[in-house]
Amino acid sequence: MAFTVAVDGPAAAGKGTVARAVAEHFGLAHLDTGALYRAVGLKVLEGADPVDAARSLTPADLERSDLRTPEAADAASKVATIPEVRAALRDFQRAFARRAGGAVLDGRDIGTVICPDAEVKLFIIASDEVRAERRWKELRERGINVTLADVLAELRERDRRDTTRTDSPLRPAEDAIIIDTTHLTIDEAIARAVAEVEKRL
Ligand code: C5P
Repeated sequence: MAFTVAVDGPAAAGKGTVARAVAEHFGLAHLDTGALYRAVGLKVLEGADPVDAARSLTPADLERSDLRTPEAADAASKVATIPEVRAALRDFQRAFARRAGGAVLDGRDIGTVICPDAEVKLFIIASDEVRAERRWKELRERGINVTLADVLAELRERDRRDTTRTDSPLRPAEDAIIIDTTHLTIDEAIARAVAEVEKRL
């Protein structure tokens, strides 16, 4: 039977890192669903229609090196408010979640909409300031020159858009386990997530 772990939360709280580590620890497949929205966002910045872009996404689109830029993140959260875009990406995510070997999906609506029956639902949070600092360091290490204040403002705007949209807003599922990583190291956050999954295996 498929075993699904849903990992949701706001931007830069650590959900990607936790999801990847949990997948590796238990030998599950991993899908970063934010990459789907980022890929659609980039195509829209290049002039594509958002719904057409979502319907025609290819594996190559998910391997673009500019997926992790602030421009892609901003464009992603705009196309993510369009119900037809979300619908176009839904079946692929659900099929991935049902893979025979089990899967970890991270995003915003995995526990609430994509996989409401997931065996484990984690909701990863951290303070705005800590999230901005982590993202700022990550961008700087990749040679992207931005100020901390800009990163904080961008995160807050994206959270606002993600939590207030009508279709699949960002919120924890009722049965989600909240992990606050504000005062945790990466290893501590991963250990906590692994322990929660272990309880339900
Ligand atoms: O997780 P990541 O920062 O890559 O996501 C980029 C954007 O894609 C989010 O801000 C959100 O608007 C959108 N997204 C979404 N639903 C998901 C994953 C991402 O709406 N499951």
